[in-house]
Amino acid sequence: MTGTSTPSDATVDRLRATVEALMPGVRADLEELVRIPSVSAAAFDQSTLVTSAEKVAALLRDAGMPEVEILRASRPDGSDGAPAVVARRPAPQGAPTVLLYAHHDVQPPGDPADWASPAFEPTERDGRLYGRGTADDKAGVMTHIAALRALLPSWGAGDGVGVVVFIEGEEESGSPSFADFLHRYRDRLQADVIVVADSDNWTVDSPSLTTSLRGLVEADLEVRTLAHAVHSGMYGGVVPDAMMAMTTLLARLWDEAGDLAVPDLVAGHAADLEYPEAQARRDSGVLDGVQLVGSGSILSRMWTRPSITVTGIDAPSVATASNTLQPVVRAKLSMRLAPGQDPETAYQALRSHLLATAPFGAKVEVTLKELGKPFAGDVSGAVYDRARWALARAWDGAEVVHQGIGGSIPFIADLTSVFPEATVLVTGVEDPDTRAHGYDESLSLRVLERACRAEALLLSSLTAEDVKTDVEGTDVKGKVPGDR
Ligand code: BES
Ligand code: ZN
Repeated sequence: MTGTSTPSDATVDRLRATVEALMPGVRADLEELVRIPSVSAAAFDQSTLVTSAEKVAALLRDAGMPEVEILRASRPDGSDGAPAVVARRPAPQGAPTVLLYAHHDVQPPGDPADWASPAFEPTERDGRLYGRGTADDKAGVMTHIAALRALLPSWGAGDGVGVVVFIEGEEESGSPSFADFLHRYRDRLQADVIVVADSDNWTVDSPSLTTSLRGLVEADLEVRTLAHAVHSGMYGGVVPDAMMAMTTLLARLWDEAGDLAVPDLVAGHAADLEYPEAQARRDSGVLDGVQLVGSGSILSRMWTRPSITVTGIDAPSVATASNTLQPVVRAKLSMRLAPGQDPETAYQALRSHLLATAPFGAKVEVTLKELGKPFAGDVSGAVYDRARWALARAWDGAEVVHQGIGGSIPFIADLTSVFPEATVLVTGVEDPDTRAHGYDESLSLRVLERACRAEALLLSSLTAEDVKTDVEGTDVKGKVPGDR
């Protein structure tokens, strides 16, 4: 451990008891947040985001944050971004400032019939709280609020650290107004340490620090072959319809082994952690007899290699299908990018591949919807030492795992380019059974308490010396942990 010594055992015990006493209230407020269906996707009622931003703002005010604002910025098309909540406590003289990030928007719930209990009615079963956003990321929001509830009442004007809380309302839609937000409100977000509570843990008993996240390209694909629909019995077998061309084209995205066939994309090697195939099968729910795809270690395939998922297809539904050749079919492609990959270059590679492999002379149009940068952090330095200490103490002595993540949090790269000196810690409350974005998303209540405890310990332990030591050590930042 570098820097000054960590808080005493007595302080750790006191904070543990404080957080334990806070948990019923934290849980109740989390449930209230989950009842607000704050889906940021454009097709959903955007007023829910105002309701959830106001609720988060009220919680931060009640926690004792002196300045709380709801702010918006503009998206590239000129429309308003979703409301974000920014709360600030100025740093006492000589103390570092810590930015606490989470998001109050959620993914769409999908088909209500799939859920064992309603998506927006938090329900406890076997120590887990089920509901959309229970983990991703309303528990992240509550982790920050819990840490502040534990610490602010005991901090006098000259005590503790400076705090900026930034709770975004459009992360699940790719943070479209974040660039303008940074431009307008950069001064308010300035921090030495950034804690992003929006990620995973290795297991419910092993806390993680996330060392890399994949980037993202989202694109819409349109395939046309006919001027209009015609009878499939008349022309089937001679005229390729858009469905045949689309399925053939999509199949050309992968080779026989299931590796991406799009050339020239960055691919790295994940850290050498033990993750047997049987575990991957259990965690993902893949059916017995279904083979895994791709080559390289499983963790490399998940964290440091590119992948493509067809996340939607617009075509006649099975129920309404008629015997016709389809003139046009559309698909949505979601490509994940390895750390180190430039998203624009990856998009051009995808687009060229789709145009070059289009079958039967079909007319193919590719429209870019979204680019997100990958993230790769460095885990050395005093702030990381503090974080490892706090996590280990909060999780009853468990070893901290440094892990990559296959998902994306693209705004991190934007934030680090504006605040290159800041140390970014990516933590979270998810675990392998969370099923974020899916039906029956859930949060382990034990993990929530440990995450709240860890964050309170971290904030109580950070000193100006830690931050100074890290800034002096910035030469090691920016390497790709997956490649170590
Ligand atoms: N919390 C996730 C990121 C994540 C995914 C962490 C998996 C741990 C495990 C985040 O909210 C998310 O889902 N991000 C989106 C970003 C996209 C909409 C630009 C994603 O990865 O799909
Ligand atoms: Zn999230």
